[in-house]
Amino acid sequence: MSIHHLGRSTFGDVSNTGNLMPIEEAHQLLTDWVPNDRLRLHMKQVAAVMKAWAIEKENADDLTARKWELAGLLHDADWEKHPNEHCRIIIEELERRHIDPEVIHCIASHGPRYFGVEPKNTMDKMIYAFDELSGFIHAAALIRPNRYEGMDVKSVLKKLKTPSFAAQVNRDDVTDAIARIDTSLEEIIQFIIDHQKDVQ
Ligand SMILES: [Fe+2]
Repeated sequence: MSIHHLGRSTFGDVSNTGNLMPIEEAHQLLTDWVPNDRLRLHMKQVAAVMKAWAIEKENADDLTARKWELAGLLHDADWEKHPNEHCRIIIEELERRHIDPEVIHCIASHGPRYFGVEPKNTMDKMIYAFDELSGFIHAAALIRPNRYEGMDVKSVLKKLKTPSFAAQVNRDDVTDAIARIDTSLEEIIQFIIDHQKDVQ
């Protein structure tokens, strides 16, 4: 698999600012585009964490919280069917649907090394910070008998220092993402545990 840079840095159209899709429609898109249950769950988890962060930490209004949620929910929507064109396909679909440019930019910048788009605003930076860690924490939960119950930050940090555990999670990306925000790795891990544990 190879991911190519998107080759551009502007997405969507400012005249579509504030234009989202109903969350049911986004879930339907996931059902249609992503047969893999585990990948769908990953996106729902990132969406829940993004929405919670917007409300609890950024004092977001309803529309803004829904933007954060939508970006989380769709960020990997084209991954399963178009791994070599990830995330160009979902970006073009959202542009075709006249979705808010900030949502599209957020998706485009969720892996700067891969897509060649730098995170700009807080929403961009937080999806970058949450994405890999969310998947990593879920992988850690799956090998515990009680899953998320009693899971602590320390054990996650220890696993991060074990290269063989969830080896596909690039530790350099995690470090880079955390360096761009004002929140500690420990706090981000705790926030993810708290807000994705009940997502189904
Ligand atoms: Fe992801």
